[in-house]
Amino acid sequence: MSAPAEAPVLAVHDVRKTFGETTALDGLSFEVRRHEVVGLIGENGAGKSTLLKMLIGLEQPDSGSIALRGEQIKMRGIAQAGAAGIGMVFQEQSLIPNLTVAENILFGAEGDAIVGGMYRWKTLRQRAQAQLDKIGSTIDVDAMAEDLTFAERQLVEIAKVLATEERTNAEPVVLLDEPTSVLDRDEAEVLFAQIERLRTRASVVFVSHRLDEVLQVSDRVYVLRNGSSVAECVPGEVDEAELRRLMIGRDLEGSHYSEERQLPVQDEVRLRVRDLSVKGVCESVDFDLHVGEILGIAGVQGSGREELCRGIFGASATRGSLEMDGRPIRTSSPRSAISSDIGFVPAERRREGMVGTMSVAENITLPHIADVCAGPVLQRSKERRLADDWIERLRIRTASAAAPLASLSGGNQQKAVLARWMVSDSLKLLILDHPTRGLDVGAKSEVYRLIRELTASGVSVLLMADSLEELIAMSHRVLVMKDGRVTDVVDAPVGAKPTPVTVLERMI
Ligand SMILES: Nc1ncnc2c1ncn2[C@@H]1O[C@H](COP(=O)(O)OP(=O)(O)OP(=O)(O)O)[C@@H](O)[C@H]1O
Ligand SMILES: [Mg+2]
Repeated sequence: MSAPAEAPVLAVHDVRKTFGETTALDGLSFEVRRHEVVGLIGENGAGKSTLLKMLIGLEQPDSGSIALRGEQIKMRGIAQAGAAGIGMVFQEQSLIPNLTVAENILFGAEGDAIVGGMYRWKTLRQRAQAQLDKIGSTIDVDAMAEDLTFAERQLVEIAKVLATEERTNAEPVVLLDEPTSVLDRDEAEVLFAQIERLRTRASVVFVSHRLDEVLQVSDRVYVLRNGSSVAECVPGEVDEAELRRLMIGRDLEGSHYSEERQLPVQDEVRLRVRDLSVKGVCESVDFDLHVGEILGIAGVQGSGREELCRGIFGASATRGSLEMDGRPIRTSSPRSAISSDIGFVPAERRREGMVGTMSVAENITLPHIADVCAGPVLQRSKERRLADDWIERLRIRTASAAAPLASLSGGNQQKAVLARWMVSDSLKLLILDHPTRGLDVGAKSEVYRLIRELTASGVSVLLMADSLEELIAMSHRVLVMKDGRVTDVVDAPVGAKPTPVTVLERMI
């Protein structure tokens, strides 16, 4: 007689979840077995985050059932989930800005680090340090969360979820919603090593739009489309192309940044940057950006490239000179940059790129308010038309243009922030900080097509991208930055692209 099959750690059966008219989960079934790493992929808005939020008690299913270790449960909130050994890294970061790293890591799980309402700081810091040590991080436990970089905060979130394993007697379930989207390859590898370690004593659900990663770490992969699971695959039996096809239900033409579509650059200089410095982070930067050119900027964290771009956009104070189409400009604030026809898509769109409570339409037309006004009067119909057009072009999944931006899935919010800058007719220079971060493969190729369209109409682009491959393929030239200075400019013409290794060698 064979032993009875072990119940899955988590079994989701036929769940439905609607938000008003939007169906987020549509009869989804899904299970996680003991010591298994389950990959979860799907287009933006497919329902991945909603599923995970349901498992951690932040959303309740309208119908269907969830069983934990063989028992039907109704998860009523994060505290209950935490006590049951379920922890989650959220797609939109959740650290409390004015608490320290240590307080954040142990928030809600201080245990014996609080006695009589008072912190025992030494215990708290030691326990937090032990979590950071797991991922080999050197982040200071006493630093305030708000002073950390985007990537550092993500690492703290990961350290925080790793603490789940010490909190329960049961084997933990760790839910990771796009944990790597802001990490570079090395940092992601550290996380993968932790996943490998966890695998011996926990179960993991891993969501990512980077399909190579999903294939690398998962034992099994579920493909979600429109709120239900359309395929269950085993890495080794499928490749990335197959996963892409399953995700979007159609074939994608070629690579989304194929070279042939790159247009030659015009001779005229659009932006002339001379002796530009941002205090403490970048020094005497000189470069010319031509009309219709995409200039990639490569550099590791701390190379100063983000600050350089923020300086040009007026979001950081600068010294030095800028000329636009031969005329000196001063960008002392984002407002003055916008009036010089400069657009900026920040990497941290949640923090500085959007107003969640405002509608999708308002967010898209925000900097172009003059275009949708007749005199001082805002024309709602014009605003809506413009927004509807972009919602369709970028396939933004939203109930309507009037829905609050915060109600969209993470990737769809990003598309709306991108649309905002692509809308403008007078745009001359667009600064893109990781524009495809968090976007699904279909949306990525659409965004790259739109960037090419913009440059064909004469817009110039400064680009920082998720991977060097992407950066090199999209750019005409690549500016290499190191320790706050431009150390190299690599030509990347059509048909003679440098390899990532060539660029990497100059970066470090
Ligand atoms: N609180 C909410 N109110 C209204 N609609 C919502 C809410 N949360 C999610 N939705 C909708 O449910 C659908 C699924 O969203 P979800 O966040 O689960 O997608 P996702 O697969 O995580 O996408 P992404 O890859 O962009 O993160 C989307 O259409 C989204 O707009
Ligand atoms: Mg999501």
